[in-house]
Amino acid sequence: MSTHLLAIDQGTTSTRAIVFDAGLAPVASAQREFRQIYPRPGWVEHDPEDLWATTVATVSEALARAGLHAADVAGLGIANQRETVVVWERATGRAIHNAIVWQDRRTAEVCARLEAEGAGSEVAAKTGLLLNPYFSAAKIGWLLDRVDGARARAEAGELLFGTVDSYLIWRLTGGAAHATDATNACRTSLYDIHAGRFDDDLCRLFEVPRAMLPEVFDCAGDFGATSPDVFGGSIRILGVAGDQQAATVGQACFEPGMAKATYGTGAFALLNVGERPVISRNRLLTTVAYQLGGVRTYALEGAIFVAGAAVQWLRDGLGLVREASETQALAEAADPDQDVYLVPAFVGLGAPHWDAEARGALFGLTRGAGRAEIARAALECVGYQTRDLLEAMQADWPEAAGVRTVLRVDGGMAASDWTLQFLADVLDAPVDRPIAPETTALGAAYLAGLAAGVCPEPADFAAAWRLERRFAPQMDPARRSRKIAGWRDAVRRTKTDLR
Ligand code: G3P
Repeated sequence: MSTHLLAIDQGTTSTRAIVFDAGLAPVASAQREFRQIYPRPGWVEHDPEDLWATTVATVSEALARAGLHAADVAGLGIANQRETVVVWERATGRAIHNAIVWQDRRTAEVCARLEAEGAGSEVAAKTGLLLNPYFSAAKIGWLLDRVDGARARAEAGELLFGTVDSYLIWRLTGGAAHATDATNACRTSLYDIHAGRFDDDLCRLFEVPRAMLPEVFDCAGDFGATSPDVFGGSIRILGVAGDQQAATVGQACFEPGMAKATYGTGAFALLNVGERPVISRNRLLTTVAYQLGGVRTYALEGAIFVAGAAVQWLRDGLGLVREASETQALAEAADPDQDVYLVPAFVGLGAPHWDAEARGALFGLTRGAGRAEIARAALECVGYQTRDLLEAMQADWPEAAGVRTVLRVDGGMAASDWTLQFLADVLDAPVDRPIAPETTALGAAYLAGLAAGVCPEPADFAAAWRLERRFAPQMDPARRSRKIAGWRDAVRRTKTDLR
């Protein structure tokens, strides 16, 4: 009897595998980091063999730690870094180039040209996305133009494209399945989120041959089975979602108005808006939150490029702390009367500003400002940026008016009580931290378990979501207003377009 579920969380800097029991409690896990390749400033690549090798190694290790075999696993769920592009040979599975990672800016010029030609409104209307190098389509075009013979081979059907989920499914199934799910497809800029299919006009716009694209399925469904030689027995792949959408599922944000934010290197907030997509007027993204039983549920999404990375910068760039955890004590010791602001635009500003040229800045320094005030500013900027996103979401989605959103949080920075208390204070809304910290893997495992018939329907899964701690707002309103006004001023002075 298969009793367990397996989740792969293939992220930007590491790959993890977690084994869950049938009640969705984690049993064993394994994690491997892999090489980040920076061929030029602004370019970020991964070796697809690293993604594959760390996947196989972590799954094997996690199963061994749990004392389980492939036959004990009822279903495998995959959550993955989104937008990252792999192009490989249909005949051999060999990638023709390194994966171009979502953070990579090499297609900035192409996107700017398409924007200048007026393509932005069609792209936004169909895909819910902005014309930005973040997304997959222009990266595919780059590969086809720069790798010798690639375009002709792609047109002849010899090359396949996939986001990382798709590439892993292909390798895991020994080339039997070229598949993805709606949450990954909708991040390519080629997918019409209203019609639920890849769009011929968008394929023409980005010059991507249709023959390269995977088949798109629900998040819970049959994606094929792993070949027996990979894990010493076959495992059915039954769940797939982009990592932020998997976390949305893992946080059980199944009702319109529910929101989650995941704080890693960057941060991603998603607000469930229900079964009708809301196109943003405030430069947020509209995305598929999940697709189950052929029904798409949509979310508004805001991405912050620098969250935990601000703390890493304190540690590695400034040498201000030795361990990230020291920042909390420093923030507590900081002078409450000094308003120091860090606008962490190290790689530009993400939503809702999308200012690629902006660079980071510190404001409000006096002779009395020191380590503590700067450390506090690094933690606070995460709260302010989240507030910017939630404000934009509320402006975009009229149903949110008057609704007091509760934000469910996860990711590394969610371990910091100080950060979450400040977040609640600055949002003037409750912030909930669940008992289960691994929400991304949990979401993937749940999707697989749902398809396998071993997990309950979403409403019952949601009822089992457990709160570890709620952070309620405590800040005096006048102080909140003063601090938010200071942040806005700091952002205004950092932006290059001076809007
Ligand atoms: O859109 C990019 C996002 O999916 C990356 O997430 O957790 O791998 O940094 P993460």
